[in-house]
Amino acid sequence: MSVRKVVIYPDEILRKPNAEITEFNEDLKTLAKDMFDTMYEFEGIGLAGPQIGVNKRIVVIDIPEEDGSQGKNQLVIINPKIVKLEGAVVESQEGCLSVPGYQDTVHRYERVTVEYQDVEGNKCSFDNVDGLFAICLQHEIDHLEGKVFVDQLSRMKIERLKKKYTKIMKEREE
Ligand code: NI
Repeated sequence: MSVRKVVIYPDEILRKPNAEITEFNEDLKTLAKDMFDTMYEFEGIGLAGPQIGVNKRIVVIDIPEEDGSQGKNQLVIINPKIVKLEGAVVESQEGCLSVPGYQDTVHRYERVTVEYQDVEGNKCSFDNVDGLFAICLQHEIDHLEGKVFVDQLSRMKIERLKKKYTKIMKEREE
């Protein structure tokens, strides 16, 4: 078990380009496992590479069961690409492990189709999925494009969050 350090907003690591993954080896499996360990440690449902300082196109997701338990729906999603966004634009109450302790409402599409590769390199897709899973996919794939959910908020809120989390980041480094 290896819990990695989570990169906190507004760290520039979250804005860097994320490279396509071309090698599907043991290192990749270890990285995915560390990402799950880190995600569970901080009680998340999704985590993207840049959030642990790995600027590569990898996402892990585990949507909880109805009783809140996790572990049954583990997905390792490599090189994902949104190929279709469909349905209404819906309000979504979100949080992010890189913005700890903060939640706010942003907008997402209701349904999404994503092409990706699994941890072995096989080509796969999620076709026209909806609900929390669709929202989570959009949130995590945004991370791979250098975006954080709070980018959607008003300029005033963003300024306030930047100040608050820069302070938290500095305190953590001390
Ligand atoms: Ni996030």
